Amino acid sequence: MASFPPLQNDRLLRTARGEPTDRTPVWMMRQAGRYLPEYRAIREEHGFFEVVETPELAADVTIQPVERFAIDAAILFCDIMVVPEAMGLTVKMVSGQGPTFPKPLTTPAEMERLVEPDVEHALGHVFDALTVTRHKLAGRVPLIGFSGAPWTLMAYMVEGGGSKSYRAARRWLYRHPDASKALLQRTTDVIVDYLIRQAEAGAQVLQVFDSWAGLHSPENFRTFCLPYLAEIATRVKDVHSDVPLIVFAKGAHYALDALADTDYDVISLDSTMDPAAARDTVGDRAVLQGNLDPCALYAPPDVLQQEVQRMLAGFGSHPHIGNLGHGMLPDHDPERARVFVDTVHEHSQHMRAA
Ligand code: CP3
Repeated sequence: MASFPPLQNDRLLRTARGEPTDRTPVWMMRQAGRYLPEYRAIREEHGFFEVVETPELAADVTIQPVERFAIDAAILFCDIMVVPEAMGLTVKMVSGQGPTFPKPLTTPAEMERLVEPDVEHALGHVFDALTVTRHKLAGRVPLIGFSGAPWTLMAYMVEGGGSKSYRAARRWLYRHPDASKALLQRTTDVIVDYLIRQAEAGAQVLQVFDSWAGLHSPENFRTFCLPYLAEIATRVKDVHSDVPLIVFAKGAHYALDALADTDYDVISLDSTMDPAAARDTVGDRAVLQGNLDPCALYAPPDVLQQEVQRMLAGFGSHPHIGNLGHGMLPDHDPERARVFVDTVHEHSQHMRAA
């Protein structure tokens, strides 16, 4: 494994292991993105996938929020769509619409178009970007790598793009359960390889995004999400037992107890989940992350501060990584992100002293 500058801020790693820290570590999903003028400046010159595929650019964008805010982690600038792309599908980033697949998988027969990727080669730019970023970060904060979860990637591969209900993808589950399981398993195998190699390239924490988990009935979650999510954690931990794993199954309230029994160290809560109830459910089986409503960043600073204090009170003394319940939004004021980060730090420090 490559050698990197020593880590100066290990609050996030300590918290993920359930160890005490002087204050609550904090970062934001989608912290590198369009709400930052310095990101928009880069995007004026370069396409989205061009940034993703150019390690120096991806590293610079990853570090932009670290330069601005006192956040306790960086997350690699990339996208979950690079996995379906490596599996042979074409993905376009359409402005105002998000990722779009010109030729989605409309029938199980079309799974023939998928390839078994040589992950090291097909996703080499991600590993290079992680390594370059680790050097450029110079140990300021740990670097988070990530992947989309099998179901969330399948939802895009079948639906062809963003959707409110993912009707086409969920129709597949009912009409073609065996082909669905085959697709989810193939995707799982690629994700495991991808995450293991991310850790080898320099990722110090790994997060799995199951952004569309909450569309399922509890039964379908147990059939089409949970086994694959659990398998990913077990297989990655077999190789990298020391790398903390975070799972974000957005909307899957019913899943917290089952997720706490998997090998993920941290469960990320969305804003509709109650921290106190989640604490009771998971007990000492998992650290929690989250979960301020991203829209609270539209509030005046004093209201935002109260919301952060309420959130911290909800997590109480449970090991907790401060975050939003979903990503930063393009029209967020960066100064509100600063208020969020600083209030998590200041108030959690007061709570520990009290
Ligand atoms: O968090 C970070 O700052 C790291 C980078 C990151 C991006 N996408 C960059 C991005 C991460 C972790 C993701 C994950 C991702 N991508 C998820 C899971 C998390 C979630 O939000 O639920 C999903 C579902 C996607 C798919 C995706 N990519 C969508 C739906 C969109 C369009 C909507 C949007 O927010 O723009 C993207 C595009 C995207 N990914 C952008 C960024 C910065 C904006 C693209 C641009 O610059 O025009």
